[in-house]
Amino acid sequence: MNLLVVGGGGREHAIIKKLKENPSVETIYALPGNGGIARDAVCVPEIGATDMDRIVDFARSHSIGFAVVAPDDPLALGCVDRLHEAGIPCFGPDAKAARIEASKVFSKNLMKKYGIPTARYEVFDDPAKALAYLRQADFPIVVKADGLALGKGVLIPQNLEEAEAAVKTIMEDKAFGDSGNEIVIEEFLTGPEVSVLAFTDGTAIAPMVSSMDHKRAGDGDTGPNTGGMGTVAPNPCYTPEIAAVCMETIFLPTLGAMRAEGCPFKGCLYFGLMLTPDGPKVIEYNCRFGDPETQVVLPLLKTDLLTVMQAVENETLSDLQVEWSGGAAACVILASGGYPGSYPKGKEITVPQDLPANVTVYHAGDRLTEDGRLVTGGGRVLGVTATGDTLAQALKDAYAAADAIRFEGKYMRRDIGQRALRALEG
Ligand code: AMP
Ligand code: GLY
Repeated sequence: MNLLVVGGGGREHAIIKKLKENPSVETIYALPGNGGIARDAVCVPEIGATDMDRIVDFARSHSIGFAVVAPDDPLALGCVDRLHEAGIPCFGPDAKAARIEASKVFSKNLMKKYGIPTARYEVFDDPAKALAYLRQADFPIVVKADGLALGKGVLIPQNLEEAEAAVKTIMEDKAFGDSGNEIVIEEFLTGPEVSVLAFTDGTAIAPMVSSMDHKRAGDGDTGPNTGGMGTVAPNPCYTPEIAAVCMETIFLPTLGAMRAEGCPFKGCLYFGLMLTPDGPKVIEYNCRFGDPETQVVLPLLKTDLLTVMQAVENETLSDLQVEWSGGAAACVILASGGYPGSYPKGKEITVPQDLPANVTVYHAGDRLTEDGRLVTGGGRVLGVTATGDTLAQALKDAYAAADAIRFEGKYMRRDIGQRALRALEG
């Protein structure tokens, strides 16, 4: 069978490597893919992840038996709807269901209506009303652009002055474009954060191993927010007792709410949770696999990924036992110096050939030159994942490999997993 994967980052590389384990898979096409993915799939750099017409034409003309749409933008734009219309089975939510990520107003109203625990909030479409509300609010407070904003649409002002600046940035300067036509202002919650990705066919749900992201650029969670500088799985804060509470109060109610609203969610639903003193609450939903969470979660999946994805598409997930290896995984992101600000591109990358078998390098932002050299092409360049019996071992091996990889300006956080190790000891 030929497969198509829409996207071209580290997450898509992890999905492709896992799909390749299925012996019935012939060719995997990645649209657009990247330099490193080209070793595992046929990349089509001229078709971008949101080139909807060209994606559908490509799928039709390359006898694609199954497609995976990984990034948020094409999902929100209805890529899965379009592929379905063309008769191509797919993994991913349709545009209506993707609103759970694409509109924070939609997801917050959904949670309120169905009693799913989340931060208290108000919605505003008028900056003057938002400012009036902020003048009598407690700080810190959380200001979120309604729409997709490349993970940058959440601001946490510490005082009124910063809050006024946040409203101006989002609603008046339109730093995130039309995503900022409406904003959500919500209560600031505290507690450990946990990411739980789950396979769901709309009714049945198979949560994946939990994980922990490290979003800030600098050690000790300092510096600007990034797309994620590293991940570990499982997340030690997410105990079996908490998992049971989340299933009862969050996961199943969310699926039921989406069905009741006439937009059942099929695909990978990402629950961004905060374990507050009042119990687990939803910080955000994503309508897709997380990046770089996928790079630690999928390496621990024992069941064949294509089989799971087909069960989601066919709505037979309840017939399948989705199994996970024990042990742990850690992923360290190697970024271009300067990220998430501006950074140089085109730096040659050297990856040693003799990395141990428990280490996998996922390529996120690189490309092949005409003479076949691998060079940097993005902010987050590589994700170096190691699996191990323990988190400590996985981290040691991931860092040893990360140190052995070379490109000019290579930057990584040195403390990925330290908080998780402390929680394990605690
Ligand atoms: P997002 O861009 O939606 O992933 O949010 C970025 C980060 O903002 C989250 O990972 C949280 O650390 C933080 N955040 C979002 N909402 C809240 C909240 N209500 N209280 C505290 N922190 C929050
Ligand atoms: N790592 C967070 C995300 O994928 O949104």
